[in-house]
Amino acid sequence: MKKIKVGLLGCGAVGTSVYELIQKNQDKYYALLGAEIEVVKIVVHSLDKKRPSIPNQLLTLDPNEVLEDQDIDVVVEVMGGITDAKDYVLKALKNKKHVVTANKDLMAVYGQPIFELGDQEQKLVLFEASVAGALPVIGTIKNDLASNKINKVMGIINGTTNFILTKMFDEGLPLDLVLKEAQDLGYAEADPTADVEGLDAARKIAILASISFNTRVVLDDVYVEGISKIATDDIEYAKQFKSTIKLLGIAIVNDGKVEVRVHPTLIPLNHPLAKVDDVYNAIYLEGDAFGDLTFLGKGAGGFPTASAVVGDILTIGKNILNPVSKIKNCTCYLDLPIKTIKQVESHYYIRMIVADETGVLSKIASVFAENNVSIDSVIQKKLANKKAELVLLTDRVEEDNFMKAKVGIESLITVDSVTSILRSEKEN
Ligand code: HSE
Repeated sequence: MKKIKVGLLGCGAVGTSVYELIQKNQDKYYALLGAEIEVVKIVVHSLDKKRPSIPNQLLTLDPNEVLEDQDIDVVVEVMGGITDAKDYVLKALKNKKHVVTANKDLMAVYGQPIFELGDQEQKLVLFEASVAGALPVIGTIKNDLASNKINKVMGIINGTTNFILTKMFDEGLPLDLVLKEAQDLGYAEADPTADVEGLDAARKIAILASISFNTRVVLDDVYVEGISKIATDDIEYAKQFKSTIKLLGIAIVNDGKVEVRVHPTLIPLNHPLAKVDDVYNAIYLEGDAFGDLTFLGKGAGGFPTASAVVGDILTIGKNILNPVSKIKNCTCYLDLPIKTIKQVESHYYIRMIVADETGVLSKIASVFAENNVSIDSVIQKKLANKKAELVLLTDRVEEDNFMKAKVGIESLITVDSVTSILRSEKEN
């Protein structure tokens, strides 16, 4: 009886959960495939770590025990990092093994050469777990929604920052305190830079944009701003505008050009993504046939991520037992240009400290008008020492025009400083 033999590269929280899930649900997998899935080797960095659920004889320090084992059908890369992961994935494909990877860092930069080698060797490269853990978006976009042309993908794709922003909104606490709590709870890493500065989300939106628009988008194409400058005052003003602030990944194709960005975004409280709280992820899509779709669920963690990894192993298992005629991993048949951030259109939020004098608001309004920026709404708060804080929302405008207006406003003698700028999304 054929077995689907799996070698794991990595045995952290995800690798351990992959092993445990395969043991737990083996009866179902056997019934669906008519073959057993067997993990035959697991590559680890240290043999000393306690792994109570994993038989010791499966563990090895040598990646070649997986990559060069003729019997292994599927190599599952759950080790993270880029350089070794890339070498191992390429070697696995060269050695005629199908690949499953959970590695967004790898796929957001080296997707193309990995797919090309997979196509050449006629081996599948599946990466459902690389974006938003358990949310079934990659296979869904590549397969079930392939009948559509997708023009927008937008989402909350980083749980750590969503936890932080939710706490800041609900409890009025500053970012550094909430970050500390997130670290204590194990949601945020000791070095939180990749999450807080938006780099984790940038990798995920690059992958989502590539598969949604069928054009290659890599990490360097993504405009990235993190949440580190969000102040409690911004959250309070957002509330006054009946809005909240979320770190969004946004990718849009428009007039044959792609815009792809990650930044904190003001969204109205009645927006579907405004209600996605704590560590939850959500991904919203627009397509020409399905209209709109939203996926909501756990974007990280051992078992939610293993859910996606093992789903990919099952897809490969089916393919091994009943091969499709020709494997084509890469679905990027277009080569669309990427817009610069200056070319992107958005609504804007701008907060500034000004002199509390007659005519100040009208001078600011004039600078906006000179740059074709239309004002949507204004909040003014009186401060001590004849100062006032002004917060404005604009209508939709090209970023270049808005930034020119900002420079003009900063040069006004009655404006002390522009303290914050945020982009704002009105529609879904
Ligand atoms: N650190 C990520 C997050 C999970 O906070 O969502 C892994 O991509």
